[in-house]
Amino acid sequence: MTEPNLDAAYASPAIEGAHRTGTPELVELYEEIADCPACGLARTRTQTVPGWGPAPAEVMCIGEAPGAREDEQGFPFVGAAGRFLDELLAGIRMSRETVHIANVVKCRPPGNRDPQPEEIAACQPYLDRQIALVDPLLIVTLGRFSMARWFAGTTISRIHGQPKRFGNRLVMPMFHPAAALRRGDLRAVIAADFARIPALLDEARTIRAEEPADASPDVDAPIAAAASLPASEQRALL
Ligand code: URA
Repeated sequence: MTEPNLDAAYASPAIEGAHRTGTPELVELYEEIADCPACGLARTRTQTVPGWGPAPAEVMCIGEAPGAREDEQGFPFVGAAGRFLDELLAGIRMSRETVHIANVVKCRPPGNRDPQPEEIAACQPYLDRQIALVDPLLIVTLGRFSMARWFAGTTISRIHGQPKRFGNRLVMPMFHPAAALRRGDLRAVIAADFARIPALLDEARTIRAEEPADASPDVDAPIAAAASLPASEQRALL
C-alpha cells in the first residue's frame, strides 16, 4: 500500500483515496481518467468517478455509472443506492474499506440516462486496467451493464445469484441496488444473493490457490452488448 503524501494537493477525492489504499499504478490510472476526453460525457461531468477502495482486493463490485451525487462528490455509490449497498456489505461484515467499488462508466450520463454503447466502449480500457490492478478473486456485477461483460444475451432476472468461473476468478451477477429502491420485493432477493458472498469467496480463494496466474480470457462479450438487451430489461430492472 502507498503511504499517503500529505503535502500533495490531490486532483480529486478518489485520487487521494487511491494514494492511501491503492498502488502507484492505480493512482496513475485514476489521474488519467480524471482528464479523459474520450466521449461526450467529458463535456457534461463535474468530475470523473473512477472508483473507491483497496487494490488489490478480494472482492470488486462493479455498477453502472455515477449519478448526480456521485458526480458532485467524486465517489461511487454515495446516493440512496449506495446506502443500500453499504447495508448489504455490512450484512456480510464487509465495507468500503475492504471491497473495491467501481462503475462501467466513469462519468455521469446527463439526467441519469443509460450509458450509451460508445461511452461504455470508451471507458472499457479503464475498467480493464482497474480489474487487472485490483485483481479480485470475486467480481460482483451490479445491474445489467456490468453483467453483460461476462454474461451475454441473457437477463439479470434470469441469472442473478448464479456465479460462474472465468479464468481464476468467480463472477457473481446481481441486481443493481437501485432496483430495490423501485421494487421493494427485490430487497430480499438482493440480500439473499449478497449473503452468498462469504461462501463464494472461500471457493474463490481455493480457485486462486490452485491457479495463481490467470491463463484464460475473462470476458464473454463486450459490455456494449447490454445495450441490445430486450426492452423489458432496459429500464425496468437495473
Ligand atoms: N449507480 C451506479 O451504478 N453507480 C454509482 O456510483 C451510483 C449509482
